[in-house]
Amino acid sequence: MEQEYNVMVVFGTRPEAIKMAPVIKELRMTPGIHCTVAVTAQHREMLDQVLNLFGIMPDYDLNLMRRGQTLPDLTCRALNGLSEVFRKEKPFLILVHGDTTTTFAAALAAFYARIPVGHVEAGLRTGDKYSPYPEEINRKLTGALADVHYAPTPTARANLLREGVEPRSVLVTGNTVIDALLATVRPDYRFESEELQRILRAGSGGRMILVTTHRRENLGEPMREIYRALVQVLVEFPDAYVVFPVHRNPEVRKTVRSVLGDLPRVHLIEPLDYEPFANLMARAHFVLTDSGGIQEEAPSLGKPVLVVRDTTERPEAVAAGTVALAGTEYERVLWHLRRLLGDKAAYEGMARAANPYGDGRAARRIAEHIRKRSRGLIESS
Ligand code: UD1
Ligand code: UDP
Repeated sequence: MEQEYNVMVVFGTRPEAIKMAPVIKELRMTPGIHCTVAVTAQHREMLDQVLNLFGIMPDYDLNLMRRGQTLPDLTCRALNGLSEVFRKEKPFLILVHGDTTTTFAAALAAFYARIPVGHVEAGLRTGDKYSPYPEEINRKLTGALADVHYAPTPTARANLLREGVEPRSVLVTGNTVIDALLATVRPDYRFESEELQRILRAGSGGRMILVTTHRRENLGEPMREIYRALVQVLVEFPDAYVVFPVHRNPEVRKTVRSVLGDLPRVHLIEPLDYEPFANLMARAHFVLTDSGGIQEEAPSLGKPVLVVRDTTERPEAVAAGTVALAGTEYERVLWHLRRLLGDKAAYEGMARAANPYGDGRAARRIAEHIRKRSRGLIESS
């Protein structure tokens, strides 16, 4: 019998789950690989939404989430919990994704256990230690611990090489988020939720601004300014309306409620399952967000994105013209909102589908690379 290698995929939050789901699917179809899944559940409800959608049953679930968790506390508990899992399972390879606390803690625990680490979505950088916070540093530290780097774009690869990473340990794959998106958005998709149907009916003929915010560095005043700009633009453009699935972070919720609660044409809703969310994005006029994943998805749907941040580690769609960095100050965000709603040419200039993040086959490339590595066909670094 052919030997089976245990590749353990580790994640904890909604975006990691969305972006690792295609990788798990491919690994499960790869001969000679036994794919196991460990979740920290740094997120709980938002993670479970994705696990259910993609039918992923974790082999280990550390159930770590606490309301208002702090970074040191979460890091310590993830490090301890994952170390225990790795000690029991002794995987051949650990796969982590991106830049969360789970990602960094898993890479560190794997290093302590002398287990090789594959880093999916490696090499994104802003060059600013505190933006995004703490993700820029989580990603760099994970890069320092990783043995294989799956870079989504040539820019990400170049970032790694500039930091002295061995070229043969880097593979450009595309971003697995595009794999997930292409499998999810359908022109004939029907929204099951009555609430969404009602919102879409009420907005019919109008222009939907789809909004999400959650970044730690935007909590408090920056979020307040962003939301105030939205309130003002809704006064100026009576056909515009906002759909805002609000992140479960209690701090985000507090600010959202205080500025946007009970306003006409502002629909504050619970986080959506990935399927309705992605299909809603395909129907939006444009998106305003501080999310990483949405910055990658919306351009491939031809939707302009206002990124309410001062930096981005995803410069490709800015270069392609579909993403604009709008900052977080009231006047600047308002300027961008007015431009997209009031200047047809500017809108059309941004509303062109661009696909700098992948062709939908990233997960297959990663699985194939792991298969070859397990066979010794690729030299391990
Ligand atoms: C985390 C990641 C961030 C990622 C984001 C995706 C870190 C440090 N941050 O940020 O990189 O972009 O996830 O959304 O790793 N909560 C719930 N239910 C949930 C999820 C969160 O109630 O399903 C609440 C809890 O009170 C929790 C708080 O949100 O304490 C913050 O969650 P946490 O994972 O610490 O940070 P995020 O802002 O979600
Ligand atoms: N998303 C979702 N439901 C929502 C909002 C977002 O499924 O209500 C998806 C979105 O399509 C993207 C991912 O969640 O794939 C982004 O997650 P988030 O913004 O929380 O994290 P980030 O990408 O910034 O790390």
